[in-house]
Amino acid sequence: MKIGVIGTGAIGGTIAKKLVQAGHEVKVFSAGEPHLLEKRAAELGVNLTTIDDITKNIDVVILSVPTIAIPQLDKKLFTDISEKVIVVDTSNYYPFRDSEIEELKNGKVESVWVSEQIGRPIIKAFNNLLAESLVNGGKEMGADGRIAMAISGDDESSINDAGFDAVDAGTLSESWRHQPGTPAYCTELNVAELKQALKAGVKEEAAYLRDLAITKLMERTSPPAHQDIVDFNRSLFPKNPKIA
Ligand SMILES: NC(=O)c1ccc[n+]([C@@H]2O[C@H](COP(=O)([O-])OP(=O)(O)OC[C@H]3O[C@@H](n4cnc5c(N)ncnc54)[C@H](OP(=O)(O)O)[C@@H]3O)[C@@H](O)[C@H]2O)c1
Repeated sequence: MKIGVIGTGAIGGTIAKKLVQAGHEVKVFSAGEPHLLEKRAAELGVNLTTIDDITKNIDVVILSVPTIAIPQLDKKLFTDISEKVIVVDTSNYYPFRDSEIEELKNGKVESVWVSEQIGRPIIKAFNNLLAESLVNGGKEMGADGRIAMAISGDDESSINDAGFDAVDAGTLSESWRHQPGTPAYCTELNVAELKQALKAGVKEEAAYLRDLAITKLMERTSPPAHQDIVDFNRSLFPKNPKIA
């Protein structure tokens, strides 16, 4: 497949690298100094392109930027291309980083809001794994304990190529079930466990738990290790399949 990735940070960069290694044709664009981007693209083993070209001649575009950056993108990037192009978004809304976005604060489902910002439907994917899980947690298809990723939408092939199982989490309006503050969010579950966790989420509690989790993690005197974050996320939900 031909894939364009916008954002070459922890998530976008890792996805780009994994997909090019799996045999896809990958090009990237990101904000930032051109010479730094060239270096980053070379590290990832992908082609660097321009913002005008990133959504041209591709099958899939993966949007992997902070939520606050999404309304700054030119809508034409997404509305002037074939409807067949799949748009995947990895974003999670964190008010401490993305500022107060009124509609999201008022409970609008994040992927619905993103779709409105860019003017077309998206697939929400890659959002419920920590960057470290994405970098080092992938396993061969069928491997024991393979971590599963929630997707709202219906393109699962790139998830498998990245080393993870996919669990269909339903429509975009149901995609809050893998937003921050839910048991499905960054808790490294397999397929059966993730299906259970997706059912167990409580929409009204998610924003509170998201902010509580960030506050508690930031209060720590030293940065938490990856496994500490996963364990902490799991501990927020007594019914989490990995705790029970
Ligand atoms: N980190 C995680 O564990 C994790 C897990 C799942 C989902 N996510 C979500 O996925 C998204 C990306 O996360 P990340 O951790 O990869 O963030 P990150 O490391 O901060 O990378 C963000 C990337 O987006 C680029 N960018 C920012 N504004 C842009 C714009 N207007 N146009 C084009 N590119 C722009 C940045 O470029 P510069 O570096 O030049 O600013 C950077 O390459 C976020 O919404 C995040 O919440 C993160």
